[in-house]
Amino acid sequence: MKISAVVLAAGLGTRMKSSIPKVLHKILGKPMLQYVIDTINFIKPHKFIVVAGRNIEEIKREILSTDKIIFTRQTEPKGTGNAALKALPLLRGFKGTILITNGDTPLITKSTIMNFIELHKKRKNHVSVLSFESKEPSSYGRILRDEKGKVISMVEQRDASEEQKKIKEVNSGIYAIEDNALNLLKKIPLNKLKGEYYLTDIIEIARNKGFKTDAICIGLEEELTGVNTQEELNLAASTMRYRIIKKFLESGITFIDPDSTFISPNVQIKAGTVIYPNVMIEGTTTIGEGCTIFPNVRIIDSEIGNGAIIKDSTLIECSAVKSNAVIGPFAHIRPGSIICENAKIGNFVEVKKSIIGQGTKASHLSYLGDAKIGNDVNIGAGTITCNYDGKDKHITTIEDNVFIGSDTQLIAPVKVGKGAFIGAGSTITVNVPPDSLAISRVEQKNIEGWAIKRRLRKKGNKSK
Ligand code: UD1
Ligand code: CA
Repeated sequence: MKISAVVLAAGLGTRMKSSIPKVLHKILGKPMLQYVIDTINFIKPHKFIVVAGRNIEEIKREILSTDKIIFTRQTEPKGTGNAALKALPLLRGFKGTILITNGDTPLITKSTIMNFIELHKKRKNHVSVLSFESKEPSSYGRILRDEKGKVISMVEQRDASEEQKKIKEVNSGIYAIEDNALNLLKKIPLNKLKGEYYLTDIIEIARNKGFKTDAICIGLEEELTGVNTQEELNLAASTMRYRIIKKFLESGITFIDPDSTFISPNVQIKAGTVIYPNVMIEGTTTIGEGCTIFPNVRIIDSEIGNGAIIKDSTLIECSAVKSNAVIGPFAHIRPGSIICENAKIGNFVEVKKSIIGQGTKASHLSYLGDAKIGNDVNIGAGTITCNYDGKDKHITTIEDNVFIGSDTQLIAPVKVGKGAFIGAGSTITVNVPPDSLAISRVEQKNIEGWAIKRRLRKKGNKSK
């Protein structure tokens, strides 16, 4: 079965009342159009065309895996019929079924699309439309059938009579058209009331020309909701969120409060992981087995190894946290960091583009940026890698088994050799040889009785 796909994404989306192109509005961090594209990619279309409008460049920038996609432009938003027509030259010579879908139907699933195409083929239709029963059909085109149940045409809400408005079977905006019926797109007339060409007219046109047409009512409203407004976007987001959570519940993930947990569609989590309330896991994050993610954590495009513990109010971005590492509370792991096995990054510690070795601990109040830190190192409270000289960034290297005393500043580029000790409160400006002690603070001076003298001086001043 040879299928080519056309996604219509050139509408203005005025009902969204937003400057962002409608199809780029995001659900759990992923653009609506990307959901449609990813689902269609599953059926491996022979040709994959996206019709985009004035925002074509922005759409190309935002959408991933576009190498298989041919973008074509609809310069003026003259309706869905006109948009579909723009794909026609690109389909010249193609033999098979053309699947046309709206770009604002992000919840559609692969299985529904497959069932639809199979039925379209089995019934030997030339033109089919996927329909569904809607509880609230007002924003959809209605399917009109004759007394025998045969589909006659479709009518939009604004053109429908009061009787027609009562019809609950509606158009999902998903069509299957055989190559030999494709030229019918050229016959779609201008709808004078709206000044647009309606793709929906293809049913009536095809039927009148003797082509076999049908509406295949197999869809669920939950899946085929079209997103035209911010409210509908919210509804779709909520459906998608539960769909994702349900998948993880079925695969052995525990959620303390699924209602406050947000997981993006491309995230992977292994069994036995427990997720507390108010957690957001985004992008392409992967989380291993038996991890615990405590409340108010946000993880973006990162890898979390088996048994890792991410404590409260921690942000992890584009980094790797290896097995059994413990991060937080209140830690910030910035892009490009690797926290190795059994390492500990504690309260108010910021790590940026650094490697923290196995079993190394930075438990309190530190900044570790552009640092290469070995295994079993102790980073004392308040340690700062001074990586920036106002112009360039420099690297701090700390080898295995080093002990960095509290409140140390390491002025990069600098290296602390294996097994060395740094005395608390030191400013390290030159390399420290292995197994040595570096200390750079001013020697302490105690002046005995100084405070008594001061008090006496103050008393004397007052009695004057
Ligand atoms: C459309 C259908 C309606 C159906 C509903 C399903 C028509 C006339 N109406 O209505 O019967 O029930 O979808 O959700 O087709 N687009 C373009 N170029 C344009 C206009 C739209 O590419 O000039 C794209 C949009 O970006 C969108 C899709 O086509 O992805 C549908 O357009 P939209 O305006 O949302 O149509 P609806 O009013 O929802
Ligand atoms: Ca729509």
